[in-house]
Amino acid sequence: MTRPTFAHINLDALRHNFSLARQFAPQQKIMVMLKADAYGHGAFPVAAALQEADAIAVAFIDEALALRHAGITQPITLLQGVFDQQEIELACEHQLDLVILHAEQARMLEAAQCSIPLRIWLKFDSGMHRLGFSADEYVTWFQRLSQHANVAEVRLMTHFSCADDPQNPVTAEQEALFDKLTGDLEATRSLANSAAIMGWPSTLRDWVRPGIMLYGVSPFADWREDHRNLRPVMTLKSVIISTRELKAGEAVGYGGSWVAKQDCRIGVVSIGYADGYPRCLPFGTPVLVNGQRAALVGRVTMDMITVDLCGLDDVQVGDEVTLWGDGLPVEEIAERAGTIAYELLTGVSKRVPRLYSE
Ligand SMILES: Cc1ncc(COP(=O)(O)O)c(C=O)c1O
Repeated sequence: MTRPTFAHINLDALRHNFSLARQFAPQQKIMVMLKADAYGHGAFPVAAALQEADAIAVAFIDEALALRHAGITQPITLLQGVFDQQEIELACEHQLDLVILHAEQARMLEAAQCSIPLRIWLKFDSGMHRLGFSADEYVTWFQRLSQHANVAEVRLMTHFSCADDPQNPVTAEQEALFDKLTGDLEATRSLANSAAIMGWPSTLRDWVRPGIMLYGVSPFADWREDHRNLRPVMTLKSVIISTRELKAGEAVGYGGSWVAKQDCRIGVVSIGYADGYPRCLPFGTPVLVNGQRAALVGRVTMDMITVDLCGLDDVQVGDEVTLWGDGLPVEEIAERAGTIAYELLTGVSKRVPRLYSE
């Protein structure tokens, strides 16, 4: 027996969201984003469930090797490329594709002893101003690497900084800059993340790179407007482990900062910030107790939270509590925490078992 706190992962919802990505991008190949343990959902089970995907992307080589060792054979791209020569050798051995982000990485690849030529994605900095080649060096490096014996194919990519806002002109500007620079190059192209797949159809090109939409989360800042049939994949659940009657004026938890205004009943739930339920969540954050909305009261602690049970029917020890997921959008909880759903999903800690269902 273990503590009944679980992240339920609905693989059917995952596949539904993947097929939605296919509907948005029917002509394109799909590279699914499985970095950060598939945004906290478990990279191997997610990869195994998405065998229809044309390729997988992870952040760095350890994530890719874990998938290879688990038997995943699809093409895998390293979004941050490689950090040293030894990683290039491993990339050859395990047939990993590299994103090349800057001249140092390009030179490292040129100097490597490759056992096979590698496929690379040459990243253009179209406006994110974080990673990628600038306009004055991109085409030169494209030509130089295209001719190099260590390179099987050079593909073109860029990444959008503001695609989550359908009104923001920056996405069209980034797209135009990319097109102007690469118009004459004969190569495969990839621009679109989830927000672009759903909101910027002209950016779809040859390959799309959905991440957050696969996990059933709206990629748009205005998430209330734009769910468009996405189904949540992770539902974080725990149970009531104790209940207590409070008199008006009694305080709850560390610092006693929440004080009952009237006589009430609270429930203690076995989840805390060590599980990835953020400590910064304010009083009033919703949870579902037996499917009914209740409010967080008192501070989030390492292993527990307290919730107000007033007005709920007959809640008992052992009753189910949903922290986010089915019936309670993770976007709403992220908003309360002043962050984004990506951070909550990837922050669910190792001590929370993932339970997979179809
Ligand atoms: C290069 C690149 N492409 C695509 C994605 C997927 O983005 P999203 O999860 O917003 O779809 C990411 C994620 O950060 C990324 O870094």
